[in-house]
Amino acid sequence: MNRIHFACVASPIVLAIGVAAGTASADGEPYRETYPHAQIDPARGFEGDVGFSDTIQYWRSEQALQRHAGWVGDPEQQWRLNWKFMDLDRVDLHPGHFAVDTGAARATALARRDPRFLSCLGEGGEKLAGLAASYPKYDAALGRVVTVEDRIESCAAAAPGEKVPQGSVANNEISVWFKSLSAGTPIRVDIGDARVMAAYRRGETLFYAKTGQLNFACASCHVPGSIMGHRLRGETPTTPFADAAHYPTYRTPVSMLESIQQRFARCHGQMRTQALAPGDPAYVDLEVFMTVLSNGYPMSVPSAR
Ligand code: HEC
Repeated sequence: MNRIHFACVASPIVLAIGVAAGTASADGEPYRETYPHAQIDPARGFEGDVGFSDTIQYWRSEQALQRHAGWVGDPEQQWRLNWKFMDLDRVDLHPGHFAVDTGAARATALARRDPRFLSCLGEGGEKLAGLAASYPKYDAALGRVVTVEDRIESCAAAAPGEKVPQGSVANNEISVWFKSLSAGTPIRVDIGDARVMAAYRRGETLFYAKTGQLNFACASCHVPGSIMGHRLRGETPTTPFADAAHYPTYRTPVSMLESIQQRFARCHGQMRTQALAPGDPAYVDLEVFMTVLSNGYPMSVPSAR
């Protein structure tokens, strides 16, 4: 019987035992199947969807969304809009908007306890607007690639009192507030940084790696020719391009904010794969991969899904 590891070196968690009975490779590493790789060029950012799902023509811009507004509510067509009609102020006021205010209040309270909280978020400067659009990024002091949610947790850790761990309501609310200050700013993850690109490549490998009791990869649902575009228990998986732009999002079905890493955990649940905790190195790598696929697309927080 063979063991399947999802998270390579950084966090070798045994995910599923039993289904994909394979053989060990010559070097003794567990055999693992991969979904065939799609051709994705990280340099193209969200425009990489051209020639991929090609749904980008329906959601690339406000005008494109307007032209296809008639698809909203039509289960056969709606998925082609990549849910982009639910961003920002395109929908009526929803709890995601209130999270901006609660998050701001939480940040103010933290800054009152320790003023360094805001300068830590601002990377030494006072200006926070636009900054969130360059995440995830390599941080020399921390010695790792950090996401916005990791930054919030680390900055808050220095202030006395309540901690703000990734995955908590407080962390998601502060993240929505911080990212809303970059709303409309095109995402610009620095793919010129070798450490960011190394994380991208690891994330890419995870995206195609089959895991869990169903032996599914992320790609089994999110690339053309897979389940993408087909209904699966009431939901239709869409293209992975430009997804990172609207997280954390307010999830209407469960009435709560959800970070992108919590979404990964939800998808892992659908794959019958053991979910990882927010902040796990494997989820950071996947977030880098997905955010590079959002490069160039405007940050769209707050949003609802
Ligand atoms: C069994 C099918 C399935 C698998 C496998 C799967 N997902 Fe999903 N995923 C979905 C569905 C269905 C949705 C909701 C519809 C949508 O937005 O695409 C979704 C949504 C998402 C979203 C949110 C998209 C948005 O617009 O908000 C992200 C991000 C995501 N998946 C990433 C992943 C990653 C990373 C993996 C692998 C760890 C994965 N998914 C594996 C079915 C799947």
